[in-house]
Amino acid sequence: MEQSRGLRLILLPLPFQGHINPMLQLGNLLHSKGFSITIVHTKFNSLNPSSHPHFTFHSIPVDLSESEKACRPVSLLNAKCVEPFRECLATLLSDAEEDPVACLISDPFFHFTRSVAESFELPRILIRTGGATSLVVYAAFPLLKEKGYFPIQDSRLEEPVTELSPLKVKDLPGKDNSDPESIYQLITNMANEPKASSGLIFNTFEDLEQHALATLRQETYPNIPIFPIGPFHKCDSAPSSSTGLLAEDQSCISWLNTQAPKSVVYVGFGSIAAVKEAQFLEIAWGLANSNHPFLWVVRPGLVHGSSEPLPDGFLESLNGRGHIVKWAPQKEVLAHPSVAVFWTHSGWNSTLESICEGVPMICMPCFGDQMANARYVSHVWKVGVQIEHGIERAEIERTINLLMVEKEGEEIRDRAMELMEKANLCLKEGGTSYQSLDGLVKHILSIKS
Ligand code: UDX
Repeated sequence: MEQSRGLRLILLPLPFQGHINPMLQLGNLLHSKGFSITIVHTKFNSLNPSSHPHFTFHSIPVDLSESEKACRPVSLLNAKCVEPFRECLATLLSDAEEDPVACLISDPFFHFTRSVAESFELPRILIRTGGATSLVVYAAFPLLKEKGYFPIQDSRLEEPVTELSPLKVKDLPGKDNSDPESIYQLITNMANEPKASSGLIFNTFEDLEQHALATLRQETYPNIPIFPIGPFHKCDSAPSSSTGLLAEDQSCISWLNTQAPKSVVYVGFGSIAAVKEAQFLEIAWGLANSNHPFLWVVRPGLVHGSSEPLPDGFLESLNGRGHIVKWAPQKEVLAHPSVAVFWTHSGWNSTLESICEGVPMICMPCFGDQMANARYVSHVWKVGVQIEHGIERAEIERTINLLMVEKEGEEIRDRAMELMEKANLCLKEGGTSYQSLDGLVKHILSIKS
C-alpha cells in the first residue's frame, strides 16, 4: 500500500450510468489502497466532481447530439474521443506537479484507448462492468456465427444454445436490433480488447461466476491476469456518494419506512431500457392487481414516445399502496427491510446489488447482457424468476405472487439469502475478492510505466 502512495491512476469510464457507477466505485477502492485517482470524462453525460472530492476530474469536449445518442453512440464516442483524449493524456502525463501516472484503466467498449495508451507507452487495464458469464457469451460470438446462430432467426428463439447451456437462442444479444451486424462487430471488438491489455478487472466474485472466470482464464485470455474484486459497492469504503446522472428522490426511503417488513415490490429498469406504452400499462395494472405495495422508478425515457401514460387517478386509486419516482437511491432501497422483491431489467449492476441484499428478482431483460444475466438468475443461481412470455398483467400478478407467497418463492428467497452470505464473505479479510484486490494493487505496481 505504501508503494502505491504518490502514484496516480487515470480512469476513463464509458459515459453511461451502468458503466460509470462501477468505474467510480473502483476508483474509491483503489484510492483506499493509496493511489491518487484522476477521472477523465466526456461532456456527454458529464460527471459532477463535487460528488467525489477526493478525485481529480478532467472533462474532454466530446458530446453527442440527440440523433447521435439514438444511433450507435458507442462507435461514435470511440471516433470522437481519440484526439481530445490524446491531448488530455499528454497534459496529464507531462504535469510535473502531479503524482506520476502508473496506468490507464478504461472500459473494453472504448477500444480507441488501445492505440492512444500504446503511443504513450502507458499500460492499460480494462474493467468489464458486466459479468464474467456475459463476457464468455460475447467471446463465443465468432464460434456461434460459424455454427449458424447468427443472424438470429425468430423461429429458433426457444432453442437451447448447446455450447452455452443453459442459454437459449433468445438470450443472445441482437435479436431485436435493426442492424444486427453492427451489434455483432461492436461486441466482438469489445470481447477481443482484453487480449491487448495488461489485465482485466471484474465487478463479480469467484463463488458467483467461478465457471465463467475459469473459462476466461484458461481459454479466452490465457495470458491476461484477471481480477474479480466485486461486489465493488459493498467493499467501497468511501463515504456514500451519488454517481447518478439523475437526482435521487429520497421520498422513496420515507415511503418505505411506512411499509411492513418484506412487503414491497421494488420495480426499476435501470438507466437505458425502455418499454412500449402498452407494456407500461400492463406493468401498471399488474402491479395494481397484485395487491402488494410497490415502489416503481419511472425514469424519463422509460416509455417509448410517451412521457406520462399512467391512467388518470391511477395512484390515487391505490390509497398509498404505490409510490412512483423518477430515480431512486437504488442501493439504499434494496437494503431497506421493507423490500421483498426486485423486478429488474437484469442489468449487471442491478443484479449484483440485489444479490448483495438477498433480494429475490423478477427478471425482465431487454437487451445486451441482460438476457444472459436473467437466465443465470433464474436457472443457475435460482434466486429469481423470469417473465419470459410477454408483458401481460395476469402473468405479472402471478409472478409477483409466486415470489411473495408461494412455496416455490420461499425456496427462491432462501437461496437469495444464502447467496448474499457468499457475497459478503468474499469481501472479508482472506476472502477471494479481498485477495484479488491485493493482487491487483501488486500487479499495477509491477507494470507501472
Ligand atoms: C447498462 C446495461 O443495461 C447493463 O446490462 C450493463 O450490465 C451495464 O450497462 P443499466 O441498464 O443502466 O446498465 O443497468 P444496471 O447495470 O443495472 O445499472 C444501473 C445503475 O443505476 C445501478 O447501479 C443502479 O443502482 C442505478 N440506479 C438505477 C439508481 O441508482 N437509481 C435508479 O432509480 C435506477
